[in-house]
Amino acid sequence: MPAVKTTYLCQQCGGASPKWAGQCPTCGAWNTLVESVAAPRTSARAPSAARAMAGAAAVTPIGSVESAEASRLTSGMAEVDRVLGGGFVPGSIALFGGDPGIGKSTLLLQLAGRLARAGNTVLYVTGEESVGQIRGRAERVGAVVEGVHLAATTDLETALSAIESANPALAVVDSVQTLTSGELTGPAGSVGQVREVAARLAEAAKASGTCVALVGHVTKEGTVAGPRTLEHLVDAVIYLEGERLGATRLLRAAKNRFGSTDEVGVLEMRGDGMAEVADASRFFIESDEAPTAGAAVTIALEGTRPLAVEIQALCAPAGYGSPRRATTGVDVNRVLMLIAVLARHAGLNLTGHDVYVNVAGGLRIDEPAADLAVATALASSLRERPVRAATVLAGEVALSGRLRGAVRAERRLLEASRLGFQRLVTGPGRGASDDGRPSGLVVARDIREALGMTLES
Ligand code: TYD
Ligand code: MG
Repeated sequence: MPAVKTTYLCQQCGGASPKWAGQCPTCGAWNTLVESVAAPRTSARAPSAARAMAGAAAVTPIGSVESAEASRLTSGMAEVDRVLGGGFVPGSIALFGGDPGIGKSTLLLQLAGRLARAGNTVLYVTGEESVGQIRGRAERVGAVVEGVHLAATTDLETALSAIESANPALAVVDSVQTLTSGELTGPAGSVGQVREVAARLAEAAKASGTCVALVGHVTKEGTVAGPRTLEHLVDAVIYLEGERLGATRLLRAAKNRFGSTDEVGVLEMRGDGMAEVADASRFFIESDEAPTAGAAVTIALEGTRPLAVEIQALCAPAGYGSPRRATTGVDVNRVLMLIAVLARHAGLNLTGHDVYVNVAGGLRIDEPAADLAVATALASSLRERPVRAATVLAGEVALSGRLRGAVRAERRLLEASRLGFQRLVTGPGRGASDDGRPSGLVVARDIREALGMTLES
């Protein structure tokens, strides 16, 4: 009989080390190593499972294999399906991460109800709430449907056998942090347990063809149980984001084996659960009133979908000490760079001002094409001159002050005109010739020229 083997697992990166240490030798985090006992079965399982599978499945020509993607399980919520890449893929496992209270359980219960209404069996395994509590929520969101089954347990093996006997099309497991395997020591939510839960559920999904939606709470570092510990074990990582007090929720894929990671789904938390936001683009523009100083609209491309988004800036005289620069929704370093470019190339000095930049509606924009709108909002606030009516901006600002056109500018212009805007100010296109440019597409060479044509005099 082999001696019980103890390893120390980092709660941050999942790295194993044979001895305890104050600092994780893998990722360098402090005080993150926790003793875990690996049951002998765990180490032996992977190769034997692989062998068993190889034995069961004959070698098959690829042409005669049916694609799992062909039989996607559409959730009935277009915003969710878009992010999944067209629906849940049978036999796959998707991790739904997000802050506590953001609405993960609500959303998945709604999906359960919709799938059941379409004739599927859904099993909702709850380790967090009682079945009575789930029933209460289901009444609120219209998910009391025949075909939705509940199981309350915190034991992984019990959950697995419930999935096996119910054989549902979708199994929701809420949450990865509350289940524990009897084969491992270590508390619920520790790296060893969380990994075991995800790995065993993934195995069960593949073996049975069930889709598993695994809920995971995000830690204060912004990840589910330490970065990267779960990502490689699941097929998709979907984050539900939003400001706690606002109602907007964004669904985004951080990883998706079966789809793009650029798509966003826009949802709204209401009294009766999550609602899809029909006209997402209008959602991120604060008002249709006369333009005010310090606001500029850009058309962001999130995946294949253009979204009109308002960027707001406030430049206020600073007190003593170094001025404050704070942002929500855009990278603060990008804003610092734009402040420097405005000073050097547009004669706008912000050294004596506190600067705040905000993206309306709780969206986060990472693409450089937002630069021009951010810079314009800053200039507009400082000079107290609004952006000309019916004008949107999209383009990257270089350190030299020059502009680069936004990719797929025509697509963005189309969305802008749909919303009633008339002009899209951008930089010189990449490779596109000047003639044949659609009317409404206005090209500026540098930031000074762009400000000259966009700010009211
Ligand atoms: P929940 O789904 O429990 O969040 P999570 O599972 O991510 O922790 O959502 C909890 C919050 O959502 C709670 O503050 C109440 C609110 N809520 C609504 O606003 N409308 C609803 O229909 C429901 C069910 C919850
Ligand atoms: Mg929950």
